[in-house]
Amino acid sequence: MSKMETNKIYHGNCVEKLREIEANKVDLIYFDPPFFTQRKHSLTNKDNSKTYEFDDKYSSTESYLTLIENVLEQSKRVLKNTGSVFLHCDKTASHHIRVVMDKIFGRENFQSEIIWSYKRWSNAKKGLLNAHQVIFFYSKTQDFKFNTIYTDYSVTTNLDQILQDRARDENGKSVYKKDENGNVIFGKEKKGVLLSDV
Ligand SMILES: C[S@@+](CC[C@H](N)C(=O)[O-])C[C@H]1O[C@@H](n2cnc3c(N)ncnc32)[C@H](O)[C@@H]1O
Repeated sequence: MSKMETNKIYHGNCVEKLREIEANKVDLIYFDPPFFTQRKHSLTNKDNSKTYEFDDKYSSTESYLTLIENVLEQSKRVLKNTGSVFLHCDKTASHHIRVVMDKIFGRENFQSEIIWSYKRWSNAKKGLLNAHQVIFFYSKTQDFKFNTIYTDYSVTTNLDQILQDRARDENGKSVYKKDENGNVIFGKEKKGVLLSDV
């Protein structure tokens, strides 16, 4: 087993490359596998001098999921107990992938289904426009490291309402707390809203 080096790119089959890495050493894995589109993808650079291709065709759902399962098994092995994995996919196979992730990481370690939503301007499809992809977030254990991020309140949020302390009246109804002169009491500064999964 080789020691995990930082800032190093390993070329090759990801399952084999992961096998070369020591167990319990990795903080975070972001996994952007083929999406099971059953197509060959090709992309050229700006001046058309280079073409990048990869084949996203598999003989069956099972053979595609075998790749996903093998990578996830190795991912779990190399992650620290405080580590997490983020797997990027789309509607083509997300329902299958989540079942595999539950199997490898355990349902109790499912943290979030992140929806990456974006704008598109097509009107060529019958039905709804596809405008999102999915990122599954699983931790290796319950003791996962997470740096909490807060975002701003929306412009329509009534900040006065949030900042004022509340109390229960004699009927158990939530009311603004008031001092002896009947003035509302302002509470501690609020941190903002937790970053959402969308
Ligand atoms: C959805 S693309 C991700 C592209 C990449 N994240 C990027 O932003 O350019 C999936 C990539 O996985 C690669 N791939 C497929 N099977 C693989 C394997 N067993 N080991 C390593 N890479 C693989 C494909 O060649 C392709 O480049």
